[in-house]
Amino acid sequence: MENLVWNDKFSIGLPEIDEQHKKLIDIINMMNDVVEGKAMKNTTMKIVLREMVNYTNYHFNSEEELMIKSGYPGYAEHKKEHTDFIIAVKKFSVEIKENRNISCDLIIFLYNWLTNHILNVDNKMGQYTLGK
Ligand SMILES: [Fe+2]
Repeated sequence: MENLVWNDKFSIGLPEIDEQHKKLIDIINMMNDVVEGKAMKNTTMKIVLREMVNYTNYHFNSEEELMIKSGYPGYAEHKKEHTDFIIAVKKFSVEIKENRNISCDLIIFLYNWLTNHILNVDNKMGQYTLGK
């Protein structure tokens, strides 16, 4: 599968969050490289997945702090999306630990989730924050 390329339409107008989204895309692309057999030696899915989980937690915390600080009314709904995503990723982690074959499904899920989330959910948060 083709790597996901950052596009200006993904910008939500908050440079710090945009940078974090770029980093997340990089990490998912690394996972795609592992699936495609293009990753560097010693880079395993377990390692990249761990990095993704850690970075995602850090990133979600940044967004949630921002929403609390700005009194964003959609906070609970937005946070629920983050929680559901973490649950889905944990499920994949278990499958990887049990060495079940991970196909492109995981990558497709991650690309779709992230792009939809940025374009719809994060974008609303960005507009609200900028309008304050
Ligand atoms: Fe978000």
